[in-house]
Parts: sequence; structure tokens; C-alpha cells
Amino acid sequence: MNTQITLMNQYVADLSVENVKFHNLHWNVVGPNFEQVHVYLEKLYDDFFLKFDEVAERVKMLGEFPVASTKEYLELSNVNELGNDDIKVEDAMKVAKEELEYLKASALKIREEADNNDDFVTVALMEDHVAAYDKEIWFIESALK
Ligand SMILES: [Fe+2]
Repeated sequence: MNTQITLMNQYVADLSVENVKFHNLHWNVVGPNFEQVHVYLEKLYDDFFLKFDEVAERVKMLGEFPVASTKEYLELSNVNELGNDDIKVEDAMKVAKEELEYLKASALKIREEADNNDDFVTVALMEDHVAAYDKEIWFIESALK
């Protein structure tokens, strides 16, 4: 169970930092279809915020403590944050796709570990996350063609 909790806490920290990173993209994206992309990025960070809470609460249900401070999020997270610059629509979408792929890989790792532990509730939760990431990755790939 320890590896699973470690992975889940890593994911909580990453989702927290992604929430900020996607606000950065939402604010600083520039170029054609600005409004659509701006609104789309908001949809993504709203979803990260829900997932962040969902995973932390699942850690509690498993009798452990979720990471719950910004200090720990920055220490644990592998997400590289962005500076204060304009970012073109295409570049913003490429960043979004890379982050979604990273989060998908994290959810898959947790799913595998939860499966080893017969924790089918977490398995189901992670399968929902992967399905949601797949859909957004498809949206972005279609937009970038
Ligand atoms: Fe906004």
C-alpha cells in the first residue's frame, strides 16, 4: 500500500501545480481563436482541481494523509512551471498535451499499483481519469492537425 500512497501523493502534488500552470496558460495564451483556447484551458484546470480533491480524499479513505501544503507540492511535483510571457495558441496546446500525457501516465501507474493491492475503488477512479485524459488528448491532437 505504501507505494500506492506515495504515487497518489505525487499525483495530488502534480495536480495542484498543474492547476496553477494551466491558469498561467489560460491568462497568457495569445493568437487566433484566443477566446476558445482561453475557455478550453479553464475547463482543463477546473477538472484538475476536482481530480486533486478526489484523489486526496481517496488517500484519506485509505487511512493515510494526503499531502496538504504548497511547500510539499513544490517539493514533490515534477511539473515545470512557466514564466510570465505571452504564449502562442499552438505552443500552449502543445504544453497542455504534454501535461495531459504525463498525468495520464501517473494515473496508469496508480491504477497498476492499486490493482496489485486489490483496491478496486482506486482502480475505477484511475480508469475514469485515464478515459478523461484520452478524450482531451484527442481534442488537442485534432486541434493541432
Ligand atoms: Fe479565468
